Amino acid sequence: MMQARARRSNREGDKMRIVCPKGKIDVHARIKDASITNMKPIATLVACLSFATLLPAAGDPPVDFVKQIKPILADRCVECHNSETLLGELNLQTRALAFGKRKAGPVIVPKHADKSMLYLVLTLPPKDKKAMPATGHRIPKDEANLIRQWITEGADWPEGKDGAITPQHKKSGK
Ligand code: HEC
Repeated sequence: MMQARARRSNREGDKMRIVCPKGKIDVHARIKDASITNMKPIATLVACLSFATLLPAAGDPPVDFVKQIKPILADRCVECHNSETLLGELNLQTRALAFGKRKAGPVIVPKHADKSMLYLVLTLPPKDKKAMPATGHRIPKDEANLIRQWITEGADWPEGKDGAITPQHKKSGK
């Protein structure tokens, strides 16, 4: 990767310091050909962009429950986890219910995705009987990561209509 090479190369050449416009990232790069200095603005941009992807969450907006998490739960989870079909003694229709008391303990531990069954069940091997969703294809990794990030950020789940999920009764398509 670009920035890795730029950091690790310690051979002969001119030294160049790249400072991102935000001022957060310093890159010390050695370049072999002085003419490359002409590319400094581009190199800066590339270095900043690639560092930006290495530092998730840095400037990213927090995960939005209503836009990003609710659709996943609504599509793939609430059909089995609602007041009528209460599998695993878990109801995911509202925040209060999802955080409600269960014998097996809470499924969401805000800020601790690694202790939250709501996330962990998505990462279990498919053969595990606790791997979720219990039927159908697995949740794509990027969506599981969203749930992970949402929990890490505090698992903000609004009360009221915005946070309420109605089970979808077998529509065509999905
Ligand atoms: C087809 C039905 C079905 C679907 C869909 C489903 N579940 Fe489950 N879920 C179950 C059953 C059955 C259990 C009880 C499993 C057990 O404890 O053996 C369960 C249990 C759980 C538990 C509790 C595990 C524990 O250790 O107590 C969590 C958390 C969970 N499901 C999350 C989810 C999530 C998140 C989704 C959506 C991605 C989902 N489930 C989709 C059927 C389903």
